[in-house]
Amino acid sequence: MSTPAPMSVETFKQIRDFIYEKSGIFVPDNKKYFLENRLGRRVQDKGLKGYDDYAYMLKFGTDKAEISKLFDLVTTNETFFFREPQHFEVFGKDLMARIIQENTSSGRKDIKIWCAASSTGEEPYTIAIVLQEKPELVGFRKEIYASDISESVLTSARNAVYGSYAIRNIPEAYLKKYFTNTNNNYAVSPSIKSMVKFMKINLLDDKDTKAIRGADVIFCRNVLIYFDDKAKQKAVSLMYDALRPKGYLFVGTSESLHNITRALKPVVINKVVVYQKT
Ligand SMILES: C[S@@+](CC[C@H](N)C(=O)[O-])C[C@H]1O[C@@H](n2cnc3c(N)ncnc32)[C@H](O)[C@@H]1O
Repeated sequence: MSTPAPMSVETFKQIRDFIYEKSGIFVPDNKKYFLENRLGRRVQDKGLKGYDDYAYMLKFGTDKAEISKLFDLVTTNETFFFREPQHFEVFGKDLMARIIQENTSSGRKDIKIWCAASSTGEEPYTIAIVLQEKPELVGFRKEIYASDISESVLTSARNAVYGSYAIRNIPEAYLKKYFTNTNNNYAVSPSIKSMVKFMKINLLDDKDTKAIRGADVIFCRNVLIYFDDKAKQKAVSLMYDALRPKGYLFVGTSESLHNITRALKPVVINKVVVYQKT
């Protein structure tokens, strides 16, 4: 089967708008090539005549699985362990100290974290390692929820086996302690794996995000960059609802919530910006 003919501008707009409406991911006008690259193979595999048939199938087809497949194809899933390590420093030291203090004064002994765009799992397993390394948390119930819109990354995340690219930033001692290396495939230890519960959540779907309430900390890093302001506002307001009062939200270091929300206030800790629910 040959590569489909170039996508018409009209079809580009139809598919682009469909993706935006369903996921918040905004593909700008000058990125028609991006959709051609990501979807060309799918059009061939489905035996369709061209991108316009694919657009029709998305819009009027009854196969929900195709939408799921579309998310797998158009999302960018780049991630690795201990990415933006300064966040994990602040999380493990400063935020944990505050949260443990609040726990002590209110008599609860639990901590709930949501990793809201977890991709293939490196970020939530990093969070699990950081929590596991805190002796002060012994005896605490530690809940880590990790979610993504893409089924295929969630499958990899649940599998929890990584190559050398993903593990390159992991401190040697943790690599030895929490991974088994077989021919340069690094499997996460069962103790860390069992701390993370994966689920499919679309950050723009209020029904999906209702699954998480009372989170102490949310990590939503390197995903809002793919959204426009309107979609960012919606996702941030749904995450606001998922946080407990005074809870914290991390976004990526290149991202900002300036002009997106006033309900979450930026707090600077050791040069790291983290947003706090007031
Ligand atoms: C670049 S990765 C970031 C992974 C990780 N947070 C990090 O910083 O390393 C972005 C992830 O966001 C997910 N994503 C995109 N749109 C989403 C949405 N509407 N709801 C949930 N996840 C979404 C993608 O599937 C992808 O896995």
